[in-house]
Amino acid sequence: MRQRPTRPLRQLGAVWPWALLLCAAAQAQNANPQQGEQIANNGLPPSVASCASCHGSKGQGMAAFPPLAGQVASYLRSQLDAFADGARGNPIMAPIAKGLTPQQRADVAAYFASLPSGIAASPGQADAKDKGAWLVERGRMQDGIPACSSCHGPGGAGVGAHFPAIARLSASYMQAQIDAWKKGSRPPGPLGLMEGIAKKLSSDDVNAIAQYYAGASGAAKP
Ligand code: HEC
Ligand code: HEC
Repeated sequence: MRQRPTRPLRQLGAVWPWALLLCAAAQAQNANPQQGEQIANNGLPPSVASCASCHGSKGQGMAAFPPLAGQVASYLRSQLDAFADGARGNPIMAPIAKGLTPQQRADVAAYFASLPSGIAASPGQADAKDKGAWLVERGRMQDGIPACSSCHGPGGAGVGAHFPAIARLSASYMQAQIDAWKKGSRPPGPLGLMEGIAKKLSSDDVNAIAQYYAGASGAAKP
């Protein structure tokens, strides 16, 4: 067996998220998930459509509409802020996020964070014959691609405040995010970690990864 290429990242991962967590805690004051539930189900007529109409009644997502259930609140909140200020360019989400006050963004983020993601955080098996499995569990050392699971956790279930769950994402949504990082229409995120990785992933890689997660036990169930 080769050495896992991701060991230094694992060690890093054990240390610096604490510093980031402190910032996240400072941001999450007084969010009201009950208010968030109202917005999720009813929107704010007439300007903001219900989140459920696209992201699903339980935040489970569908194809181009990513799942929100169980995603950590600080991540959801930062994405809503980025849509609102244009740092994450998206013509559908921009007016919706702008239509919410910062308090309402925090409320709706807290609501979706409280729902179960349904992802089993069980470690997967690297398989040299399965490109997706290998990329997720081992990465591709020669191209400087670390294992997705070294940051996004076993089963792609997400870790802490800054590594979102990626197990349920459709290939098309995942590809859209990778392209957005490549062309700079999505903020680089914490320490630019993901932006750097995105630039090294081909569409073939992305398809294989999404397929692997969809087939991994528990990952496909919302
Ligand atoms: C008309 C459909 C539609 C509605 C209604 C909608 N969204 Fe979205 N949402 C999208 C699409 C499409 C994306 C993916 C954007 C992209 O590709 O960057 C998205 C992405 C997001 C993301 C980013 C998720 C991630 O994993 O990074 C968040 C957070 C979000 N929406 C929250 C909400 C909230 C909260 C509401 C209700 C107030 C809402 N959305 C209503 C279509 C919708
Ligand atoms: C070194 C840590 C690290 C590794 C390794 C990593 N990611 Fe990420 N990833 C992140 C961070 C941090 C974010 C959140 C970015 C943000 O806040 O905008 C992220 C976000 C994402 C998102 C966006 C999720 C959403 O809901 O929009 C996708 C897709 C993604 N990563 C895919 C991958 C894939 C595929 C791999 C493996 C090839 C991978 N990541 C490996 C750190 C990492």
